[in-house]
Order: sequence, then structure tokens, then C-alpha cells
Amino acid sequence: MAQPGREWSRRQSQEFIHNAISHIRDSTEGSSAIVGVSGGVDSTVAAVLVHRAMGKNLKPVMIDNGLLREGEMEFVASSFSGLGIELKAVDARSRFLERLAGIADPEAKRKIIGEEFIRVFEEEAAKYEGARFLVQGTIRSDIVESGAEAQTTGDERETRLVKSHHNVGGLPEDMDFELLEPLRDLYKEQVRLVGEELGLPKSLVHRHPFPGPGLAVRILGEVTAQKLEILRKAQAVLDRQISEAGWYDRLWQCFCVLPNVRTVGVKEGGRTYGHLIAIRAVLSSDAMVARWAPIPHDLLNAIALKITDEVPQVNRVVYDITSKPPGTIEWE
Ligand code: XMP
Repeated sequence: MAQPGREWSRRQSQEFIHNAISHIRDSTEGSSAIVGVSGGVDSTVAAVLVHRAMGKNLKPVMIDNGLLREGEMEFVASSFSGLGIELKAVDARSRFLERLAGIADPEAKRKIIGEEFIRVFEEEAAKYEGARFLVQGTIRSDIVESGAEAQTTGDERETRLVKSHHNVGGLPEDMDFELLEPLRDLYKEQVRLVGEELGLPKSLVHRHPFPGPGLAVRILGEVTAQKLEILRKAQAVLDRQISEAGWYDRLWQCFCVLPNVRTVGVKEGGRTYGHLIAIRAVLSSDAMVARWAPIPHDLLNAIALKITDEVPQVNRVVYDITSKPPGTIEWE
């Protein structure tokens, strides 16, 4: 079994790329494929790797499911165009939100998003005659955490379902594609090394991971357009503060959660009844275990002030001091 890849050498990354490209060419010869790009490291590296093997027989598509971060679509499209790869943007925001209406259960949300994602993809694929494969940026920790590992290793420690990762457990059974998952044996650090070796910019390769179901798993309870707007604004403030303070690259992830809790506050002498934002920041090397990050109090203070100042619906900010285990990194 591959170990978390800090110690992977450049030569191993090059060998991996060489073997993956020839394997993909052999197994897809004459066919075409589509890839769902999320803007995350995994799907981006998978797309670029498969693009190297298949060229224009690969159609990269990015679905705007309405659960993306602020400016995400534009950032990803321009990053791809910088690599000479044409990305098709699909606006499916209202479709996802309609299907999520009234759904509060975390696993139900994940399944709906996974299913809807595939449906939209099937519709896109139908526009590309002969698209036979669906490329996914699934990595090893997605498989282990989804319990799928049980089928291959029988290791009881790895068999418990933690949560259905969008690109593994959430797939509907009647899917029309064959899956191509070139990164499934790699850990995140190895994926980043492969990305660098493929010539991807550091700003993309070293982005914090972002889950397939997006902001939906950071809004506890029902997902609505109003809650998404609050979370998006708070996240943009947090990203800016963390980057300006030089903390971004030290953290595995750092994000806002909207726990669907409202509290009483006071602003300009008047009572407020606003939303609570929780900040989650962790240190990790592979997401299998994680420690809450010791962000300096001064920085936490600045973040809380900025969020409550710039996001008027928020009047309280808390910091999550739970490691993994017993918590997971995401709240849902
Ligand atoms: P948890 O919350 O299980 O997350 O500790 C571990 C890592 O996986 C990311 N994550 C996901 N990534 N699809 C993904 O592609 C998903 O459904 C998903 N759920 C969690 C999470 O952000 C963390 O880096």
C-alpha cells in the first residue's frame, strides 16, 4: 500500500505519470471521455493527466452546482485556459438547489448531490458522441473513508462508513459511464507532486482541498440560497485574512461552517439576532487524521472582527478545537 507521499521522489512522480498515461491510452483507445472539474487539486490533476493521454478526446466540464466558493468558476476557467485546455461551464445552480430543498440529513444531501452531478454529466456527455468514460479525481483517502476499501483489503479498521464521499459512495447504480480514476492509489501529497510535475501552477496545486458536495456540507440542515450567500462571503473574508497573515500554506484546510444556529448580539446599541459562523482550521498530511490548528489569538480576533463587519447577517464567530478523530474535518 502506498504511504502518504511526502517521501515520494520526483522520479517516482515521473514514473507514475508515464505509466498512467500509457495505461489510459491503452484502455481508452478510440473512445472519448468527459471529466468533471471542481477546481480542487484532485479533479484538476486528474483532468490534466488524462488530457495528456487523450488530448481533445477529453472534454473537461465544470458544473456550477451553486455550492461553489466566491469567484470559483472564473478562477478555474482561467487556470485551465492558461494550460491551453478548454473548459465548458454548465450552469446547474437552480437544479441542485431545488433538489436540496427541505433536505437536512447529511448523508441524504451527499447522495442527492452525487446523483444530480452524474445526471448533469450524462446530459453533457450525450452532447459528445461516443463519450464512454467519466474521469474522476478520486484519491485513496476518499475510498478508505467511504468504506469501499473493505472489498479489496478486508481490513476491519477501514470498513466503517465515515461518510459517503461524493465521488465514491454517492454514485447511482444505473450510471452510463465506465469510470476512469487515475489517482485512486495516491494520497493527497502524491497528487500534489504529480500536479507539480505536470507543470500546474503552485496556486492551484497547493490549494486547500474542497469537498465534492461543496458548501452544502458546511451548512448544517437545509441548504438555501440565503445561507449560501452568507457562507460564501464569510469564506472569502477568511481566505483573505489567512493568506495575508501568511498562514494559508501552513494549514491543510481552513474554512467557515454555518451551523444553522442564531444567537442574540448587539450592534450600534441595538439588539441583533444573527447567524453563527464556526471557523475550522486543521493541520494534516493526508486528511486521515488531523489536529486543530493553533492559529494565533490576534489573528482569530482579526478574522472575527472582519467577518462580523463585512457579513451583516453574522453576529458571532466561534473556533472549532476538535481534532480528527474524534471529529471529521468537515462538519457533515
Ligand atoms: P473528512 O470530513 O471526512 O474529510 O474528515 C477528509 C477530507 O476529504 C474532504 N472531503 C471530500 N472530498 N468529496 C471530496 O472530494 C467529498 O464528498 C468529501 N467529503 C470530505 C474534506 O474536505 C477533507 O479534506
